[in-house]
Amino acid sequence: MNMVAKILAAFGVSLAALAGSAQAQDAGQGGRVFARCAICHSVTPGKGPTIGPNLKAVVGRKAGAVPKYVYSSAMSQSRIVWDKAVLDRFLTQPSKLVPGNKMAFAGISSPKDRADLIAYLDTLK
Ligand code: HEC
Repeated sequence: MNMVAKILAAFGVSLAALAGSAQAQDAGQGGRVFARCAICHSVTPGKGPTIGPNLKAVVGRKAGAVPKYVYSSAMSQSRIVWDKAVLDRFLTQPSKLVPGNKMAFAGISSPKDRADLIAYLDTLK
């Protein structure tokens, strides 16, 4: 990460979120959407595993990579890398992208909510 990105990250802003602002992604709003995830996922470094794996720095990470978290074999063998486009597909309908995964969540139908949420996740470097 370069210096500018580090400074922005310190304020909870990512370059990608800024670059994506043409699509009106709102990481602040995404933080509120994350309330739907927070019952199962922590984003505090080192916290958990809880019901779901920790989602700190999930953007760009390989699926199934949180140490000590016991993933389903569907997830751990998915060979997915969580870039933003893949996260958008996953969060639309988790059971469609990774059949047999154990995340008990139907999905988020609103594209705007997904975009905001992913912009928020992208701030968690
Ligand atoms: C009811 C609990 C629950 C909710 C709500 C939930 N998740 Fe999950 N999530 C899980 C579980 C359990 C897994 C592990 C899935 C597996 O191993 O098959 C998971 C896995 C994931 C992964 C893969 C992580 C990795 O390390 O590979 C992502 C990304 C994710 N969830 C994002 C979200 C987001 C974003 C939301 C909110 C919209 C959300 N989840 C809501 C339980 C939940």
